Order: sequence, then structure tokens, then C-alpha cells
Amino acid sequence: MFPESNAAPGYTYDECRATADWLSSRLSVRPLVGIVCGSGLGRLADGLKDQVVFKYSDIPNFPKSTVHGHAGRLVFGTLKGTPCVCMQGRFHLYEGYPIQKITLPIRVFKLMGVETVILTNAAGGLNQDYRVGDVMIIKDHINMPGFAGINPLAGPNEDKFGVRFPCMSDAYNRKLVRLAQEVGSELGFSDFLREGVYCVLGGPSFETIAECRMLNKLGADAVGMSTVHEAIVARHCGMRVFALSLISNQAVMDYESEERANHEEVLQTGDERAQQLEKFVATFISRLEHDAATH
Ligand code: HPA
Repeated sequence: MFPESNAAPGYTYDECRATADWLSSRLSVRPLVGIVCGSGLGRLADGLKDQVVFKYSDIPNFPKSTVHGHAGRLVFGTLKGTPCVCMQGRFHLYEGYPIQKITLPIRVFKLMGVETVILTNAAGGLNQDYRVGDVMIIKDHINMPGFAGINPLAGPNEDKFGVRFPCMSDAYNRKLVRLAQEVGSELGFSDFLREGVYCVLGGPSFETIAECRMLNKLGADAVGMSTVHEAIVARHCGMRVFALSLISNQAVMDYESEERANHEEVLQTGDERAQQLEKFVATFISRLEHDAATH
């Protein structure tokens, strides 16, 4: 699977460092929170004050985002006084990048000083109690590509980031899940807030009916094509992770159904919930304690 040189197909520590230094030298504040905006959720970045914006195409080593609905910009700024960095648009396996390259920005976040990563995505609802527009707090994941050896940490380990065999039973910080539940009920969002398991697949084709039924039986509440690789890399280098899925469509589980998953529906649902999600994320961030030593 790996070239004879045994070199990682991703970026070296020095390359990540070079990208982080390039960005840091153009900023006056270090971000403490890193946010990744999923499909249709790019507006989360619009609430940042005192913005400094970089196009991915201008940042050394950054891959280019090729997906409709993803802006391809890195936005720095403050949310209720907390310095943040926001990826408007992420990189996916289905774009053809090696998995180790997709997660470069997460390591760059770490090197710039980020302590907490907030990952968002649009996902198909597998849990039959879920409705389109629900927001699922991710409490755990199933890494399907990982079962086949497709893992962002495959290849030589970068010891400067973390250990060879990182634990994943605490991938999604439980204190942050509780905080999100509190914030959700304070804001009156409890009736559409859920907590569940996210399953990642490679995409880009949506799932068949048989696949959806299988994933649901295996314990997945929602299915998508992102987030898990970023969560693994963030945990590997010691950042705490909080993640949300916006249920943008019901995964089709029934052969009689006339429903068909499509990307336009995914983007439209994002638009409709965007304002509430913005408020939710801003309030959540304002309540974070910034003390990396206690994570
Ligand atoms: N399946 C996979 N990925 C998705 C879906 C889906 O139904 N909706 C949004 N992203």
C-alpha cells in the first residue's frame, strides 16, 4: 500500500509547520477553536468578527476544494470574543485525495494553537425517529473506510503529533456533548437536537437501500462522507473534538419509497437551519473553557 521509501503519502511535520507558520505570520491572534463547515453550513463562518480570509488556493500545501456548496476559504476571526478559525469547505475522500492529505488543515490548526475542534456535516438520517432538519450531536463514529485500512494515520507515525495507536473510545469529548445539550435546551432547540452515532463512507455515490439497512442495524444513526478522518487526526494530536450532523435527508430504507437522495436537498436543508446553528455554535463556543491541560 505504501511506496518502497516508506514515506507517508501525506504531508510531513515540516510541511504542516510551514503552512501553519505562513498563516500565523499573517495574523495577530492565535485561534483557540477550529471549526469545519459542512455542506450548506458555510454561513457558520459569516458570524466571525474582524475577519482575515485566505483562499485555499493561496495557502501553501493546501489542496483545493472541488465541491459545489463548499467555498474553499479559511476564515479567521472572533466569535463572542473567542479567536476562531473556520474552514468554509473541507476535503473529501471522493475528490480523489489520499486520505492523509484531506486532514492537513487539522494538523495546521493544532500547530497554530487550536485546542478544540468543532466539526459539522450534512448527513443522511438512518435512525427512523430522525426528521430532516434535526441536528445530531455525534457521540461516536463507525469508520467504514478504516475497516479496509483507509485511515488518515496509516503510514509512518509522525511522533511529534501523537502516538502510533491512539485511543478512540473517547473520540468525542463527553463534557462537550453535555455542554451542547445544556446550550440546546437553553436556546429552546431540544425538540430537534439528537445524540447519535455517525458512520462515514467514501462516497461519492449515495448508499443503496441494502447498505442503509445494514448500517442502521450496525448501530449507525446517520451516514455521511466526512468528519471521521478529521476527528481521528485531531484526537491523535491531542485536541478535543465536538461534532454535529445536520440531518439533511432521510436515507432511503424502503424499496417502495419514491425518495431519492440528492445533493440539492442537502444544501437546501443547511440553508434553512443555518441561523439557528450559527446561534448554537456561537453560544457553545462562548461557554468553552480554554485550558488544554484539562482535556
Ligand atoms: N448519505 C451520505 N452522505 C450524505 C447524505 C446521505 O444520505 N446526506 C448528506 N450527506
